[in-house]
Amino acid sequence: MRDAQPRSIRLADYRPPMFLIPRTALHFELYEDFTLVHATLGLVRNPASDERGPLRLAGEGLELRELLIDGEAPVASRWRCDAEGLELDDPPEAFELCTTVRIDPRANTALEGLYLSRGMFCTQCEAEGFRRISYFLDRPDVMSVYSVTIDADRRRYPVLLSNGNRTSQRALDDGRHRVVWEDPFPKPSYLFALVAGDLACIEDRFRTRGGRDVALRIYVEEKDLAKGDHAMASLKHAMRWDEERYGREYDLDVFNIVAVDDFNMGAMENKGLNIFNTSCVLACPATTTDAGFQRVEAIVAHEYFHNWSGNRVTCRDWFQLSLKEGFTVFRDAEFSADLGSRDLKRIEDATLLRTAQFAEDAGPLAHPVRPDSYIEINNFYTLTVYEKGAEVVRMLHTLLGEEGFRAGSDLYFERHDGQAVTCDDFIAAMADANDTDLGTFKRWYGQAGTPELTVEDAWDKDSGAYTLTVRQQTPATPGQPGKAPLVIPLALGLLGDAGNLRLTLEGETPDGEQADNTHRVLVLEEPEQSFTFTGLPERPVPALLRGFSAPVRLSYPYRREQLRTLMTRDDDGFVRWDAGQQLMVAALGDVQAARAAGTTPALDPLLAEACAALLDPATPDPAVAAAMLALPGESTLVELAAHAGGADIDAIHDAREWLRAALGEALEDVLVRCVRRHPPAAAYAPVGEQIGPRSLRNTCLGYLATRGDTGLVLARAQLAEADNLTDRLAALRVLAQAGDATERETALEGFYAAWQHEALVVNHWLQLQATLDLPDAVERVTALMEHPAFDLGNPNKVRSLVGAFAGANLVHFHRADGAGYGLLGGVVEALNARNPQIAARLLTPLTKWRTVPVRVEAMRAELSRLAALPALSPDVYEVVSKSLESQEPQPVG
Ligand code: TRP
Ligand code: ZN
Repeated sequence: MRDAQPRSIRLADYRPPMFLIPRTALHFELYEDFTLVHATLGLVRNPASDERGPLRLAGEGLELRELLIDGEAPVASRWRCDAEGLELDDPPEAFELCTTVRIDPRANTALEGLYLSRGMFCTQCEAEGFRRISYFLDRPDVMSVYSVTIDADRRRYPVLLSNGNRTSQRALDDGRHRVVWEDPFPKPSYLFALVAGDLACIEDRFRTRGGRDVALRIYVEEKDLAKGDHAMASLKHAMRWDEERYGREYDLDVFNIVAVDDFNMGAMENKGLNIFNTSCVLACPATTTDAGFQRVEAIVAHEYFHNWSGNRVTCRDWFQLSLKEGFTVFRDAEFSADLGSRDLKRIEDATLLRTAQFAEDAGPLAHPVRPDSYIEINNFYTLTVYEKGAEVVRMLHTLLGEEGFRAGSDLYFERHDGQAVTCDDFIAAMADANDTDLGTFKRWYGQAGTPELTVEDAWDKDSGAYTLTVRQQTPATPGQPGKAPLVIPLALGLLGDAGNLRLTLEGETPDGEQADNTHRVLVLEEPEQSFTFTGLPERPVPALLRGFSAPVRLSYPYRREQLRTLMTRDDDGFVRWDAGQQLMVAALGDVQAARAAGTTPALDPLLAEACAALLDPATPDPAVAAAMLALPGESTLVELAAHAGGADIDAIHDAREWLRAALGEALEDVLVRCVRRHPPAAAYAPVGEQIGPRSLRNTCLGYLATRGDTGLVLARAQLAEADNLTDRLAALRVLAQAGDATERETALEGFYAAWQHEALVVNHWLQLQATLDLPDAVERVTALMEHPAFDLGNPNKVRSLVGAFAGANLVHFHRADGAGYGLLGGVVEALNARNPQIAARLLTPLTKWRTVPVRVEAMRAELSRLAALPALSPDVYEVVSKSLESQEPQPVG
């Protein structure tokens, strides 16, 4: 919080640090009502800096108790400290700085720095939390070797953890004890971590390829001890995978994970001491869904992979965040694809990108993968930096091939081990290892907005030539009116009557030997390009953007029969799924058109037939069938409609519900048979062979929920008999959504009564209610905020109830009277001072006012109300002001 207008930090202003801190010794005296932090920093002038003048160390919310320079208190006129840090005049070339500060972890509700969560001390230092612990050069290009001493009450805090290896442990007077941790690897302050608490742990070992014996420990509250096994198995898989796929081994003797209930994000990769949101590490069948198990596996791997992509090689400054996040998301996505279903993982990621990231790229907060300015860096942990950043790395992989990419990553790690580097360094390593030039490719890092590809084709019957003409264009985004063409890998195939056709580009000699030449990656780099394939005996259906080969929108005027053909017959799983989705979008368009014209909609027989085929016992993969049967989400449809000029959320919702009911009616018998064919497994396990059938059965149940008693009877039985959360929640949703008021309340209350002691299950219960389509949805959410299960101080609860409501219950969030906006605005206001990071994140749905033309005024009014509040945090200020700044749409007519 500050009084002056928060200022922007700009990439262009980057200067190397004036001083370096090769060594840092910290001594924590932990008490509940205050904590003392003694820091001894060895500072030396940075030869790479020619800056002179006073040295500023960052520090926020610190009460300075002692200050010594080389053992002596400096003269009062030679130093000063304010709310943002400490300034020393004319520091010596090399000196030792000792500070003692007093902080108050118990009062720390922002969950940044050192705080208390359910009686446990823990830290969160990324991005700039370390400055709330001690005065420091709190920037990632200052890397230091840490030694950490922790003193605390032995009974209440038997477990004392920090980064690296534990080097000593002894009892002190007054029932306290002391533990010392040393981390031999120099690291930036954002990777510092400390935990103190009464924790139980599960333990395992891992032997690295190079022969290092590593102790693996997952620390949890005693009551959660049985929920750590899945994370442990995931960790070992991740360690092995990184050795095999990237040649990366773990480098310390211990790897610790701690589960914390109050946590702003998913998890944090602190060196040797990862800290996890309980929701991303604890797992057991009764409290975790199938998706939850997969999420734990992916996030454990993600944080582990950061040990190389992030920790050993880190970021020079926060503008380079995607250097570690984009790369690491790509790495964890490939890990998940290798361990599970590659097609499904790609479908999930493409869906996230197309709905949420495309929306971000089209909104007032659009920014490049490498932003060039920010007010609050916490606001830039975005889908663009993470997910689009991962797509940029994936495109490199596609362009260079697995071997070339691996050569690039080997060179990157070798060249930059122990350094803080930039996205340019990453690209340079990729280019050098492959002896290629990626200069134009690099535009992906600097240019915001989603590129649009328009494809046209022509077939010449006589010559057998088939020409694809591709135009690319990227729309303007705030601050970037003009865009340059990008390097875009466009993967494709051509589908003929008998399957995928062999591809020969004009000028090439046909390759008779190679059977697998039905797949091709065209590299686009001009605003318009044509590609001619020769020797085609028939007019093919183009299978475009296979594997979602680039984060772009693609339009080609498919006819429905062509989509149906792709859906059943293309070799590429993503294309098959995408064609099905496009068919559904077309059918939804029919429904909306009929409704608008006041006529009765009719179900597209082609779609009904396609869905029936997916439900057929002969369909090989139930998981893929489930994904293909799922209607495009409302957010996806809203994003599509917004791109086409503005979404009518009520009409979209109405059409989608109509289609769901129509398919439910037309396919009732097949749906019921499919449910029966996939009964619950004898004993639940979160494995692919069970997850697929479960997901197909529950997808069917969702359609049958529109069939009155047929659906309710199945759901009641499933809820009564289920041995796992996936099936319970699916059934509960049907009863709560489709049952009458008595059935709904009885089911919801019964569920709460049974699971109220399990916080993570209660979060699902909150989320389920937040996303019900009921006339009083807003009132229900408001009432639940008063429920004993809710807690504004716990980010998981806030996300489950308020975040889910605003992000996923679109018709009710956008209720005509503005009640949904008022609800969200009220929570943001309440959280602004308490937890600004969460407050700002929660605001996202309100920033999308441009997509909903009929609600522009109401949404902007709520944003304006927030903008006028006194003492806005920089976090909320940045989101609100940038959202309002961008122009109102021109009035039509
Ligand atoms: N680096 C974390 C990751 O793995 C993200 C993260 C965790 C984070 N906690 C945070 C970012 C708090 C900002 C603030 O992606
Ligand atoms: Zn990360």
